[in-house]
Amino acid sequence: MRGSNPNIGMRIGVCLAALACGLAPIPAAAQDAGKPTAAQTLYAPDAKMDRFISDLIAKMTLDEKIGQLTLFTSDWDVTGPTMREGYKRDIAAGKVGAIFNAYTAKYTRDLQKVAVEQTRLKIPLLFGYDVIHGHRTIFPISLGEAATWDLEAIEKAARVSAVEASAEGLHWTFAPMVDIARDPRWGRVSEGAGEDVYLGSLIGAARVRGFQGKDLKATDTLLATVKHFAAYGQAQAGRDYHTTDMSDRELRDTYLPPFKAALDAGAASFMTSFNELNGIPATGNTYLLTDILRKEWDFKGFVVTDYTSINEMVPHGFARDEAHAGELAVNAGVDMDMQGAVFMNHLKASVEAGRVAPARIDEAVRDVLEMKYRLGLFEDPYRYSNEKREKAAIYNPKHLEAARDVARKSMVLLKNDGNVLPLAKTAKSIALIGPLADSKEDMIGSWSAAGDRKEKPVTVLQGLREKLGKNAAINFAKGASYEFNAGDSTDGFADAIAAAQKSDMIVAVMGEKWDMTGEAASRTDLDLPGNQTALLKELKKLGKPIVLVLMSGRPNSIAWEAENADAILHAWYPGTMGGHAVADVLVGDYNPSAKLPITFPRNVGQVPIFYNMKNTGRPYTADKQGQKYLSRYLNTPNSPLYPFGYGLSYTTFGYSPVTLDKASIRPGEALTASVTVTNTGSRAGEEVVQLYVQDLVGSVTRPVRELKRFEKVMLKPGEAKTLSFKLSDKDLAFHRADMSYGAEAGDFKLYVGTSSDATNQAAFTLAE
Ligand code: BGC
Repeated sequence: MRGSNPNIGMRIGVCLAALACGLAPIPAAAQDAGKPTAAQTLYAPDAKMDRFISDLIAKMTLDEKIGQLTLFTSDWDVTGPTMREGYKRDIAAGKVGAIFNAYTAKYTRDLQKVAVEQTRLKIPLLFGYDVIHGHRTIFPISLGEAATWDLEAIEKAARVSAVEASAEGLHWTFAPMVDIARDPRWGRVSEGAGEDVYLGSLIGAARVRGFQGKDLKATDTLLATVKHFAAYGQAQAGRDYHTTDMSDRELRDTYLPPFKAALDAGAASFMTSFNELNGIPATGNTYLLTDILRKEWDFKGFVVTDYTSINEMVPHGFARDEAHAGELAVNAGVDMDMQGAVFMNHLKASVEAGRVAPARIDEAVRDVLEMKYRLGLFEDPYRYSNEKREKAAIYNPKHLEAARDVARKSMVLLKNDGNVLPLAKTAKSIALIGPLADSKEDMIGSWSAAGDRKEKPVTVLQGLREKLGKNAAINFAKGASYEFNAGDSTDGFADAIAAAQKSDMIVAVMGEKWDMTGEAASRTDLDLPGNQTALLKELKKLGKPIVLVLMSGRPNSIAWEAENADAILHAWYPGTMGGHAVADVLVGDYNPSAKLPITFPRNVGQVPIFYNMKNTGRPYTADKQGQKYLSRYLNTPNSPLYPFGYGLSYTTFGYSPVTLDKASIRPGEALTASVTVTNTGSRAGEEVVQLYVQDLVGSVTRPVRELKRFEKVMLKPGEAKTLSFKLSDKDLAFHRADMSYGAEAGDFKLYVGTSSDATNQAAFTLAE
């Protein structure tokens, strides 16, 4: 194995003594003080493995080594140009060590057979795939899962995904994506956990635990890949693959911690990102891949590129040609080339010319072979490809039930005027309208792995029909289109209006087409696309209650809808069982408990907008309304449409004033903040109680507040529970003016409440 970094122990010693080091932090809640991390346990030294791999490497030719560093797609699924055909020939020739986009027990077995029967050294293949939010049974998109604020549910979703995918011969998923994303123009906001570093770190770690389980040798394990390393989420102007340029402090305080949390949870691999960071493409970035990942963080797994991102260093203007790009990548710390065939075509010559050290190749090969070994593939290369298990796992009723449960938990109730929701189960007539009301293909969103889009997904129309039975008339009309070019068309409006006229109320299921978010799906406006809002305006004239069910993978600008619909439920893309889950929530069989993991702007001009911004020197406060020369817009308030952490319930919750057991702590001490939350309504429900902290003065300016703790609590009507949150100086740490990491003495405010707008506050001091 790679040696442990000798500097790490020393650096930690220094950190504890002087609270002064540059290691990117992980949230205190994510680690148990003193206990080894999951990564330290999973990748504990293994002398037998080391000997086995050293012997194997000693037998390998340079070509065979480069083969282990080469990953190709099968021709089943691609996300970019297929640069390589004849991948089966390459397997037989020992030119490829891993394959992605190939699954089913039978197909992986067939390909594995080629590798272990036709190559000289019989090294088994590793099979990877984008198993992101489900494999066959599809859960809500990742951003929707994040809205549950329920780490157990999120871990379970990943576990179910791993059980299904591994039974189809897969060993490795390209998930979780932990990119912090604050610009909803960027289509990939749908793939992560939203805007917040603390929530995002906990979710990233939960997903790794779910995919990998506790034992890599268990055949229902998938190796996780943390991606995209790093800072991909800050693409300029929200345009995918675009440039990122940020301070080292911003990188370390905001963008890196979720990666570190996933690493500590045991993630086996890291994927480089497509973007350049401060002028250096991530795939050729020694600072990221070696200095931080290997030297500071002591990462023991392997680094794979994103799809052809080595080749892309040529158009980036960083490499002269592909051979040069390959040298930059491998020397920076890349172990495996995804799809670019650069290592395959050029690396041998680079080594022979002395531009890449043979020892660097051996190190990369070892990183890859170790994971194959840890999975048990050298003992039995076919152990994952199991038809019997495949049959039992795929769309197992328990998996479908779990998907329905997570989907219900992911839906955010944004508005509910006059308690128009839940619908009475005795509702007699409902007009169900909109392009997403009965669209199977949209239900599972993007990156839905091997999920079926044609038959399996349950639509809202199906879900409601089943739920309400024969007594309710559901008058369905698509009415509008979400296609961008639907423009001013009023096709279908008459049908929708007729359906609404004969109904007591309107449920409009609208939003974006499934592929309008995800990779290469950036937008310059965030409105509901097509003629959907135009139809809503016509329906509004009828004076009937309107419930809007939104499906989308990003925050949309829905200012008109927020003003004019009576109720709004955000359902993201809820997955295979989505229609049932929407019906469960609409009729109140499930009381919504989700909270936004990302801020909803009023319009695209506010973007990027997130809750933990800086105050500025000219804050626009309530007592200065209308004044000029303040940090504000002339035509739109600074506040978002819906803040981070926001979400309603069918019941209501009351909060006692927050109290602290101490008004001052010293480094190493903790304080406890307590609050009593009461269900003041008439239904049982869950509340996500959130705690934020503001550091009033710093050696560098500090955000207006930062999430530090949360807890999801179930309360019966009238029931009260006191929650206690422990905080220490570790939770107050950041990269200070001199880039050392730690807290600073001074005054703090703490807020507890139902969203990032919480006003229930207390003050405390951190003494020297
Ligand atoms: C995406 C990755 C994905 C890879 C393989 C790329 O285009 O950026 O997130 O894992 O394709 O499908």
